[in-house]
Amino acid sequence: MTLQLRVYVPPHPLIKHWLAVARDATTPSVLFRSAMTELGRWLTYEAIREWLPTMDTEVNTPLSTCPATFINPEIPIAVIPILRAGLSLLEGAQTLLPLSSVYHIGVVRNEETLEPSIYLNKFPSQFHSETRVVITEPMLATGGTIVTVMEELTKRGIDPAFVRIISVVASPVALQKLNVAYPGLVIFTAAIDEVLNDKGYIVPGLGDAGDRTFGT
Ligand code: URA
Repeated sequence: MTLQLRVYVPPHPLIKHWLAVARDATTPSVLFRSAMTELGRWLTYEAIREWLPTMDTEVNTPLSTCPATFINPEIPIAVIPILRAGLSLLEGAQTLLPLSSVYHIGVVRNEETLEPSIYLNKFPSQFHSETRVVITEPMLATGGTIVTVMEELTKRGIDPAFVRIISVVASPVALQKLNVAYPGLVIFTAAIDEVLNDKGYIVPGLGDAGDRTFGT
């Protein structure tokens, strides 16, 4: 069986609305942050539908007993925001995954070569092999950063089949690179934009997601 990257662009009106707000160059930072929080929430909601581990049991209602399904508390859930811009989607993801642990990783791109390098890594030396992972990275542009983060995760025991990537705008270049490196991955994004300019920015995109989130 050949594994293939699965990319979902959920056709939800709230995702379309908040994407439009985020794309608009006149949106001030305070509203941009709200838009990213909402995108983080709704994209995570879509992404965890068949991913959150559950367990079947029974509960006693005031009248009788009936089958019931709970989230399985034994299986660790990790949210990984890629600094800086990934922080913008974190709050939305965390509201749906309140028991998750958050592991930060900071990756910076060389502005000339566009090559990524890690400047902060708070990952443990080994993750539990069943850990479910949500990575928040709003812009999948060249794909260099996300592949670097995936390498750091898989060498610490994360199974790519348990990973969901949440992004806002993805480029075909990044998706192709991920498909080669991790063909079983699943990605949820609000949009796919075709063009990547020579500075590695997605066009039309939404600009620099980190700068617009933090106003710097
Ligand atoms: N990072 C951003 O913030 N925006 C882009 O368009 C590409 C990378």
